[in-house]
Order: sequence, then C-alpha cells, then structure tokens
Amino acid sequence: MKYLVTSALPYANGKLHVGHVAGAYLPADIFVRWLRLHHEDVIYICGTDEHGTPISISADKEGVGPEVIVDRFHKSIKEAFDSLDIRFDNFSGTARPPHHKASQAFFTALYEKGHIKVKHTQQLYCEHDKRFLPDRYVEGVCPSCGASGARGDQCDACGAAYDTITLKEPKCKICGNTPIVKDTKHWFLQLNDFKDQLATWISTKDYWKENVRNFMLNLLEQGLIERSITRDLSWGVPVPLEDAEGKVLYVWFDAPIGYISSTVEWAERIGQPERWKDYWLSEDTRMIHFIGKDNIIFHALIWPAMLMGQDLNYCLPHDIPANEFMNLEGQKISTSRNWAIWVDEFTSDFPGDYLRYYLAVNAPEKGDSDFSLRDFQARINNELNNVLGNLANRVFAFTVKNFEGVIPAVNLSEDSKAVMREAFELMQQIDDGFREYQVKKNTRLIMDIARLGNRYFDERKPWAMIKEDREHVAETLRVCADLLAYISVAMTPIMPSRMQALRAMLGLDSELSWDKAIIDSQQSYVLKDTHALFRKVTDEEIEAQLKKLGSPEEDKVQTDPLKDSITYDDFAKMDIRVATILEAKRVPKTDKLLHLKVDIGSEQRELIAGIAEVYEPESLIGKQVAMLVNLEPKKIRGVHSQGMILAVNTQDSLSLLSPEKPCPPGSTIR
Ligand code: 2FM
Ligand code: ZN
Repeated sequence: MKYLVTSALPYANGKLHVGHVAGAYLPADIFVRWLRLHHEDVIYICGTDEHGTPISISADKEGVGPEVIVDRFHKSIKEAFDSLDIRFDNFSGTARPPHHKASQAFFTALYEKGHIKVKHTQQLYCEHDKRFLPDRYVEGVCPSCGASGARGDQCDACGAAYDTITLKEPKCKICGNTPIVKDTKHWFLQLNDFKDQLATWISTKDYWKENVRNFMLNLLEQGLIERSITRDLSWGVPVPLEDAEGKVLYVWFDAPIGYISSTVEWAERIGQPERWKDYWLSEDTRMIHFIGKDNIIFHALIWPAMLMGQDLNYCLPHDIPANEFMNLEGQKISTSRNWAIWVDEFTSDFPGDYLRYYLAVNAPEKGDSDFSLRDFQARINNELNNVLGNLANRVFAFTVKNFEGVIPAVNLSEDSKAVMREAFELMQQIDDGFREYQVKKNTRLIMDIARLGNRYFDERKPWAMIKEDREHVAETLRVCADLLAYISVAMTPIMPSRMQALRAMLGLDSELSWDKAIIDSQQSYVLKDTHALFRKVTDEEIEAQLKKLGSPEEDKVQTDPLKDSITYDDFAKMDIRVATILEAKRVPKTDKLLHLKVDIGSEQRELIAGIAEVYEPESLIGKQVAMLVNLEPKKIRGVHSQGMILAVNTQDSLSLLSPEKPCPPGSTIR
C-alpha cells in the first residue's frame, strides 16, 4: 500500500493564517507523520495555486505582473509552512511550465473523447479595456434586490446568484466604464457523461466523513450540469485549441492537476523521473486530499470526473477529509480587516509547536471551531506546562538528583503493570484516532497518558519514599519514563520539534517508530541535558497579540423596526430640498439646539436643529444639507422654525446628509 497525501493548494494571493492551517494543512501533516511512524510508503504533495482572477486583480491594482504577486506569496506561504514544521515532499506552483503542459494534456484528453463541448454565450465586454470581463471584474446593481455594489455573479446583500449579464448598471472594475454585452464562447465539461461511474465510485465510499458523503449524494441526486471550464483572461493556462485565443482554463480546472505536476516535479528532483507513476498510476495507492469544506465539490465530483476521462489509468481519491472553518475570537476570520492571526507573525512570537498543539486541540473537525487567544494561553499553560511539562520536569529533576540521571531496569509491581496496561490501551485508541484523522480527540487522549503519569507519581510519593525504599522510587521513575516515551511518539505528529527534544532528554535515539516507543525492559534510560520542555505564555504576550488584531466583521447595529409600506404619493407629499446654511448660532441655555438660517433657493428661512452636540456652529456655514421644507412651522424657543434638516441617527452620534456634489439651493431631493 502507498499513500499519496495532498493538501489543497493555497492561492498565492495572500499570507497564510491560522484558519488555513487548521483546515487543510496541519491535519494532513499530522496524518503523514503518523503514517511515517508506521514506516508506510507516503509522499505529501502541495504547492501554490497561482491562477484565478483575484491574483490578476491584485496585480492590476499594484501595477505589476501577476508573477510578481505569485512569487511574493509563494515564498511567504512556504516560509510560513516551514515555521510550523509542515513538511511537504514537494511544494510546487501552478504557474510553472510543466504544470501548464500537464493541464493542457488533461484538457485535450477530455476534449478528444467528447467530454468537453463548446457553447456560444453572451458576456460583458469592456470596450475601453478591450477585454471580456469575468464575474469578479464587474460590479453593479443586484437584479434581485436592487442593492448597489453587487458582485458580478453574486449579491452580498441578499445572497442571490445570477448570470453576470443580468446585473443592472454594470461597471467595469478596471476602468469604471459601462461594459457592453458581446457574443463569446466557452468550453464546458460534460459532467453528466460520468454520472454512472461517479455514482458507482461514491457507493464504495461509506467510510467518508458524513459532511462530504452527504454533500456528494445530494449533488448526484440533483443531477449533474455541465460546468464552464474556460475564462476570458490573459493569466492562466491557455486553452490548447486553435480557436481559443484569449481563453485560459478556469483556475479550478487546472489547480488539482497541480497535485500531479508537483509529484512529477518531486520525482525529477530526487533523480527518479518515473517515480510519480508509482503513486498516480497504481491501484495500490491511497490518495487522500485534505481540504476545507468549501472545496468539496471540486475534489469529490469534478476532479474525479476529470481523472476518469483520461487515457492513463489514474488512481481516484481514496478519501477526502474536509474540515470545517475556524473563527477567531467568535468572529469570522477576515483578511481584509486584519481579523486574522498570521502564521509568520505568530511563530516569531511563540514556538511553532504551541500553535500546532492549539490548532490540534481545537481542530474544526465536526463543526466550526474558534481560536481564542486567552484559550490558547490557558491550553499552553494548563495542559502543556502543568500536565505534560510537569510530568517530565519532576521525573527528570528526581532522576538527576537521586539517580545521577540514570533510570535502571526494574521489576514492575502489579500496580505499575496496571498503569502500563492502561497506557498501552490509550496508545491503541490514539493509533485508531490518527487513522481516522481524529486529531482533536487524540490530543486529549495523549494528555490522558500524562495525567495518568502525574497521578501515579503523586500516589507513590517518591519524595517521601526516597529515604526508605530506593527500589520503589526507581520503579516509579521507570514507569513515568516509559509513559513519557509513549507520549514522545504519540505526540510527534502534533508537536514534532518539542517531542524530538523530549526524546533527546530521555536519551532515546531519534529513530522513531510507533511499535517501538519504549525501550527494552532490560535497558536503562540515560538522561541527557534535561531542561524545561515548555514555557508559560504570559498575560502581556496575549495582550500584545490582541492589540495586533484589526476589527472583526462590522458590528450588527440594532436598527429600528421597518415601517409599513407607503405609496409613492405618500412619499411625494414630502418636499425635501437642498438647503445651504447661511448662519448658525447656539440657542442660549441649551446644549443641543442650533439656530440656523438657510437658503432654499426661492427664499431664506430660519429653523431650530438639534445638532449642537455634534456640530460646531462655525463649521456649518456654507454647508449644504437635505431639508424637509414643508413641515408644519412651529415656534421653538421663540424662533419661528420653518422646516427640518435631515440627519442619520446612529446609536451614539448623528450625521448630516449632504449632497455629494454642490447643487443649487432649493433643488428637489427624491
Ligand atoms: O480554495 C482554495 O484555496 C484553492 N486554491 C484550493 C485549490 S485545491 C486544489 F484543487 F488545487
Ligand atoms: Zn473597463
């Protein structure tokens, strides 16, 4: 059996944050490390996803070529993975020429078998920029709810999804001009051709995680529609057809092929160029794709269909463990608002293993999870330091002080044997847990071994026994050292670097093996350079992290309940005009009121406005505001107040409404 493990290729369009790591990378790295503890044949493959419109948009914004963005973030992402000891056998990138070739070959094979068909469609085209505008390049008014700022294919305000050409008042996002509708053509993958094959294949996947399997069964039931796999862009893999100028493959078509091209790159790098076939073209391969839940459809439906339509006999995904999302301090992670914890920054403040541990304890396996800095501190201090670190410290300190650092072979009493049996059973449960990607549960079970050790140590009171029964104490230390050795292996997938340090202190050779976790009962542990395994995280460190955070999603404001609907005639009764403020002074003996004189074109008027707490009178002179001019006049503080100026009332302030550009006073607002 061979394992081919992949993690979703991250877009080379931004830095890596903890949400990425928790979903698709750490769980895969842990799984791979666990397989290696069992000496399985495994390669772990990844790379950056370097195409797609967001990358071209970033490049356009900065006025650089897309390859500049790609190189920058490829490097930054790779470094972030390194800082976390996430170790791929190969980390490639999809802009590399061999990947382009491989993707074109994939397209051609499907095309020649008739699984890709061309279709004439209409699309928005910017005559100024001389290009078709893919959905993310357009903005306009939602055809469904009328909200402005709607994206080309989706409205964030009402959630509607629509065809880009139905967008109202579309504007090109590059130049702001109004695009035209123009005939174009695109190529579509005929997913339905694979319907039966997919259904048969899925029927063998009863071991898949429920979220993935149900998602798939649902899709198959709904019926498969053809999927557009080309885009009008210059950045991407050119469509390998004569009549396809200006067209590239849709990023989601070429991205998963990156798993193959990265494996090919690996094989060449190790000097065995054919080696990739041992994995990709073997029936003996278990291919496992670690992804986030937003990638399920691509990995469990489109990608397998793409593989089925090739001439070569590619292996199909064996499993697709998709994780849920991780939030931050109770709010969705947002990179644009800097509501994120960036891996590079965090690992320069704390050891990478602390982050690995916290993300493992808190893995979003069955539902979304939450990263909380206070919780991070509590886990590191109360669990790593006070439980595991404490067990190691007390065993080491005791051994060094009383046994010159050597824990000899001993005969175990029934009590001690029972403890070792319990630990052995835990090790078996942990082993099963890793097989099923249950990282979260496993961290708890491994810590249970440490808790078992602390309890045993306390019960046997070595500090009291040392004077009367050295054998008894030696036995205590021996059992605890064996438990630490178990932990050092079981925890290696989660905290590889800290566990290597633990094993070095225990005097264990670095050759790691699940089945040979503890040393022979005849041998002694010879401790080396013992020191504290962990350090505590201070309040100040957490404060500093909290300060770095930007702002979470816009706070939902409590809004007034919506009023009953009115007719246009009701609305038209209100005469709202642009007024220019000519004079403003405070109304004596009040904090809130200003006495204003305004020009409404046909005449000048006086009125009282309750805005003195927010606006200084002098700042208002010359300002244009919206004013309801036909409100029944009223005597307020001795002034004949003729009208009302309009303002937005927020919870704690107020904001005048002004026309966006100067207007003749008296102009009607409607
Ligand atoms: O969602 C994403 O971040 C994509 N870049 C994942 C691609 S996975 C694979 F197919 F390459
Ligand atoms: Zn334009």
